[in-house]
Amino acid sequence: MEKIILTGDRPTGKLHVGHYAGSLKRRVELQNSGEYDKTYIMIADAQALTDNFDNPEKIRQNIIEVALDYLSCGIDPSKSTIFVQSQIPELTELTFFYSNLVTVSRLQRNPTVKSEIKMRNFEASIPVGFFTYPISQAADITAFKATTIPVGEDQLPMIEQTREIVRKFNSIYDEVLVEPDVILPNNKACMRLPGIDGKQKMSKSLGNCIYLSDTEKDVKQKIMSMYTDPTHIQVSDPGHIEGNTVFTYLDAFSKKEHFEEYLSDYNNLDELKEHYQKGGLGDVKIKKFLNNVMQEELAPIRKKRAEFEKDIPGVYEILKNGSERARETAAQTMAEVKNAMKINYFEDEELIKNQSTKYSEK
Ligand code: TRP
Repeated sequence: MEKIILTGDRPTGKLHVGHYAGSLKRRVELQNSGEYDKTYIMIADAQALTDNFDNPEKIRQNIIEVALDYLSCGIDPSKSTIFVQSQIPELTELTFFYSNLVTVSRLQRNPTVKSEIKMRNFEASIPVGFFTYPISQAADITAFKATTIPVGEDQLPMIEQTREIVRKFNSIYDEVLVEPDVILPNNKACMRLPGIDGKQKMSKSLGNCIYLSDTEKDVKQKIMSMYTDPTHIQVSDPGHIEGNTVFTYLDAFSKKEHFEEYLSDYNNLDELKEHYQKGGLGDVKIKKFLNNVMQEELAPIRKKRAEFEKDIPGVYEILKNGSERARETAAQTMAEVKNAMKINYFEDEELIKNQSTKYSEK
C-alpha cells in the first residue's frame, strides 16, 4: 500500500512558531525523508469558514499568508501537493455521504469540538457546519487515501472519528477507504508550545504569538518580554523551570551545538536548568540565549519568505496547480465511493441491462 501524508491548517491568520514546532517542521522532514509516496498539504479554508462564515475576507486574505509560511519553511511544491480545500468539490460530496454514518451524539462527544464550542460561545446555538466539521475532516483525509496525518495532539479526536467513519463505510459498502494513523510531535515541549505570556496556547486573539513572519527585532522584543518565573525576583533567587516559558521554548528548540556557539559556560540544557534552579542565573541571560536559538531557526525561513513575497502571482499559481492535481485524486476516490454506494447508475451497464430484462419479461 502507498504511504500518503495529508495535513493542513485553517487560514485564519499567519502561522506561528507553535504551528512550526507542533507540525510544520515535522512535515518538512517527512516530505524530505523519501519514505512517503505522496504528501498533500491542505489550506483548510472551508473548515475555517465553519466558524468564520461572517468574515470571508479574513479567510481570503490569509490563504496567501499560510501558503507563504509553508513555502518559507521548506514545503516544496515539487515534492508536496499544496492545495486549497474549497476548490475540491468532491470533499463536500464525500462529507454529505459520510454524514449518514455519524450520529449527533457521537459528534457531541468529540472533545475538540466540545471545547471549541465553549471557546466560541456557541453553546446556545451551534452552526450545523461547525458542528459537523469532523465529518468534513474525514473527507479531507480519506479522499486522498492518506495513511499518515502529522498533527498536534488536539487533532487526535478528529483522526479517531475519521477511523470510525472509514471502518463503518468499508463494512457497509466496500473496502474503499483507508484508516489513517497520526504522527504526533516527538518532543513533548513541541506538542503544546505556550504563548509568550505563559498561557496555555499561542493564539492570535490573545496576542501572545511569535509569528514565522516576524522581523528579527519583533522576535527579540517578544522573547525579552517572555513570561518566566514570577517568584524569581533577584538573580540569586532559586528559579523554577516548570511553567517557565523560556525553558519550554529551550526544550523545544535548543540543541547541544547552540551551547557551544552561544553559551559555552554550559554543556547542555540540563546544566543550565540546574543552575537556574539553584539560583544565581538571571532571566536576561536565558532570554538572550533563547533569542540566539530562535533567530538561528527563523532567519532562513524569513529569507525564503522574502524571496516568495517577490512573486505572489507565482504562489497563487502553485496553489492552483496543486488544487488541480489534488482534485484528480479526489475524483478518483469519489468514483470508487459512488461505486461502493451503488450510486453509479449511468456507469453501470449491468444495472441497465438487468432493468431492461426485468421489464422485457413483464
Ligand atoms: N482541523 C485542522 C486544524 O484546525 C485543520 C485540518 C482540516 C486538517 N482538515 C485536516 C488537519 C485534515 C489534518 C488533516 O488545524
